[in-house]
Amino acid sequence: MDAFVYREGNGGRVLHAEGVSLPSVAARFGTPTYCYANGVLVDRYRALAQVAPNALICYAVKANDALAVIRTFARLGAGADIISGGELRGALRAGVAPDRLVFAGPGKTREEMDFALANGVGQFNVESPAELEALDAAARAVGARAPVALRVNPDVDAETHDKIATGRRGDKFGIDDIDIPELYARAAALEGIELLGLAVHIGSQLSRLAPFEAAFERLVTLVEGLRAAGHRVTRLNLGGGLGVRYQDETPPDVDAYGGLVERVRQRLGVTVVIEPGRWLVAPAGVLLTRVITVKQAGERRWAIVDAAMNDLMRPALYDAWHDIEPVAEPASGVATVETDVAGPVCESGDVLGRRRQLPPLTAGDLLILRDVGAYGSVMASTYNGRPLAAEVMVRGDAVASIRARQDLEALLARDLVPSWLA
Ligand code: LLP
Repeated sequence: MDAFVYREGNGGRVLHAEGVSLPSVAARFGTPTYCYANGVLVDRYRALAQVAPNALICYAVKANDALAVIRTFARLGAGADIISGGELRGALRAGVAPDRLVFAGPGKTREEMDFALANGVGQFNVESPAELEALDAAARAVGARAPVALRVNPDVDAETHDKIATGRRGDKFGIDDIDIPELYARAAALEGIELLGLAVHIGSQLSRLAPFEAAFERLVTLVEGLRAAGHRVTRLNLGGGLGVRYQDETPPDVDAYGGLVERVRQRLGVTVVIEPGRWLVAPAGVLLTRVITVKQAGERRWAIVDAAMNDLMRPALYDAWHDIEPVAEPASGVATVETDVAGPVCESGDVLGRRRQLPPLTAGDLLILRDVGAYGSVMASTYNGRPLAAEVMVRGDAVASIRARQDLEALLARDLVPSWLA
């Protein structure tokens, strides 16, 4: 389902989010504003749950940590994959059951471990021998046993952007597969550790199934070896990574992915956990922005809009593509103009879309950037003194603020002047 389509609204055909017209969102909440469609979140979660009915779906909170987004999934029964004490608090506040939380990441501090143990987190993914020892010590100190999956680095290339591939030899994530049997045996002897099994996550925005297959196959072989050596393995965490279509990618369909997950589960008779982030939320969000000014620079025509790289980092950081569309439907027959769309930030890298075919734009026009529900607002900063954008969620004809635009005074109020500069 595409929730963002042109419909008749006040003053002509304009893009809507479900039943809410985007000009009305801009009028009420200002711009730039992230707008999420609750129906898309629900539909996608249900679609995934249907093709992977026996997997525990732990939504990767890092993709979008808005409380309303996490709660949407929590109410559908999801667990959560968290990466920090901050995300842990957010997931608990959203109502995720602690035993459905997976605490991942290569650098958990002692404070984070203590907090997670105190709250009964269901699984810790351990990424190094030193972390195993630290977690064992933290658990023993409070008379607990930390439930653990060892994260494997299977040395598989996810065939994705270099900055989001995580499963190649030498990447900072996981434990080299060849070291797993020995470490598993050591972990089994630790009083503060309750071994559940293994975890893997080779990267994000995967557009082919083959790297998943290779990584999962590596895990299956490891589990068979561990069991042959007399160890118990009851749980496999297969990570996230399923890609979406931003431009012309053809990611594997969700049925094929679900089938693969289910086959692994059946072969080993384990509980399977998956940690999807992007696939669940990317298409559920748009970034609504207004054209500030239009200018010509040499051959190129620039539309400078009020959203920028600080609001949406992905184009500047990964050369990522997001479709850009006018909110007012162009009249049929209007010739498009090749336009570069950029924010006002003082860097040449602050370009949201290059060489886009758009109707002639003028100051005040509204545009959307599509598929920004994942890794959009979560990666925002206040660079150039720009407050964090507003975020709203729609359901049917209702629209609600889920994060107010950051107040400029509050932003400035963080600053203190040392007494010796007063
Ligand atoms: N599990 C682990 C251990 C992860 O590191 C990640 C993502 C996920 C699950 C969720 O992966 P997903 O299903 O969303 O692909 N900022 C980048 C993406 C970073 C992904 C980080 N880890 C981007 O904008 O493309």
